[in-house]
Amino acid sequence: MTNFAAPIIATADSDAFLAELRGFDAFGAKTIQFEQDGIPYFVNEFWTSSQRQAHSLHEISYRACFKPQLPEFFISRLTASGEGVYDPFMGRGTTPLQAALMGRRPIGNDMNPLSALLTRPRLATPSLAAIEARLREIDWRAGEPERRDLLAFYHEDTLRQICALRRFLLTHSEPVDDWIKMVAINRLTGHSPGFFSVYTLPPNQAVSVESQVKINARRGQTPPPRDVGKLILKKSRALLADGPPRPHPPAILGDGDAAHTPFVASASARLIVTSPPFLDIVQYAADNWLRNWFAGIDTDAVKISAHRGEAAWSRMVRDCFVEFARVVAPGGHVAFEVGEVRGGSVLLERLVWRAVEGLPFARLFVLVNAQEFTKTSHCWGVRNNAKGVNSNRIVVLRRA
Ligand SMILES: C[S@@+](CC[C@H](N)C(=O)[O-])C[C@H]1O[C@@H](n2cnc3c(N)ncnc32)[C@H](O)[C@@H]1O
Repeated sequence: MTNFAAPIIATADSDAFLAELRGFDAFGAKTIQFEQDGIPYFVNEFWTSSQRQAHSLHEISYRACFKPQLPEFFISRLTASGEGVYDPFMGRGTTPLQAALMGRRPIGNDMNPLSALLTRPRLATPSLAAIEARLREIDWRAGEPERRDLLAFYHEDTLRQICALRRFLLTHSEPVDDWIKMVAINRLTGHSPGFFSVYTLPPNQAVSVESQVKINARRGQTPPPRDVGKLILKKSRALLADGPPRPHPPAILGDGDAAHTPFVASASARLIVTSPPFLDIVQYAADNWLRNWFAGIDTDAVKISAHRGEAAWSRMVRDCFVEFARVVAPGGHVAFEVGEVRGGSVLLERLVWRAVEGLPFARLFVLVNAQEFTKTSHCWGVRNNAKGVNSNRIVVLRRA
């Protein structure tokens, strides 16, 4: 599966990579290249999500996740089969999963233990028959609704089933149970009958109980009954539609601070593809409160970073790169995605560029993947703020 022209290099070679980016025109537009504040930029539509769907196993939602095409682009060009690919801020696990799908060693970390719960089961998938058999073993009527406030989201029968499942999963931890937990976490709230809840905001975050009460009043809705086991099986079927990941070296996953990851061996990663929290834009802990409750995670105990100012954010980035210098093998690469914040008024890639000064990394360039670039490439002037164009901004560095 690939969504872009075949890479011209198979191993880590920055010069060949650079040459490819300069001449890139797979989607009909030429790369725009310019320098600003001493930083080389390459702008093009380097990958596109419209071409072909990513592997079905990626299809779980998470706030501020990136598309699988992003890690795929770098993994295919900068690593070989069996090499370690790491994401220290893995979220739903897009990078480690894509690494597994491409036969690399998945390495991942996130401060929120929820991330490993979402990622691990998709790296070694159970069969649909095993999932179906396990779902039949659960006594769905055994659950006492433990939190009646959740009736704002769920019909009483549905809440009983959710509580029965939650209790079952607290005492069962076979791989098939972890799979069921992962799928259930993803079905907790959403906007369609495919979710356990009544209509609520998009599936990647849960509003507070008070807000849900207001949504219900505004829409004149009450939570309808749902069959939790059936919905889990249906989503499992969809996730498994493209088959299991290729054979790959065993995964290494952790749940610490990205700046301190002793479980990741020195020089074990050939490539990091990651996207840190952007200043204080997303409240990961608050967004995930309901998922954390279901999974038995104490949200207050998860110390997720929210860096209000640019100085604090830059310090966090530097601390992380000190750790990256240990875990990335010499000659390996880091692709550090920063996206757009505050309408483009803060260019985070420049903060990164400055923050890593003096560390053992060659700062190569900033790659900007501009979606719909073929239609809008005329917007990219010297000032490079293309309004209305979604872009990923990725600082690319090589470990000395
Ligand atoms: C932008 S999201 C990453 C999304 C990911 N690329 C994906 O595709 O799902 C940033 C993640 O960083 C995590 N995080 C925040 N501060 C952290 C820290 N100090 N160390 C490790 N993870 C952290 C958050 O929990 C969140 O999942």
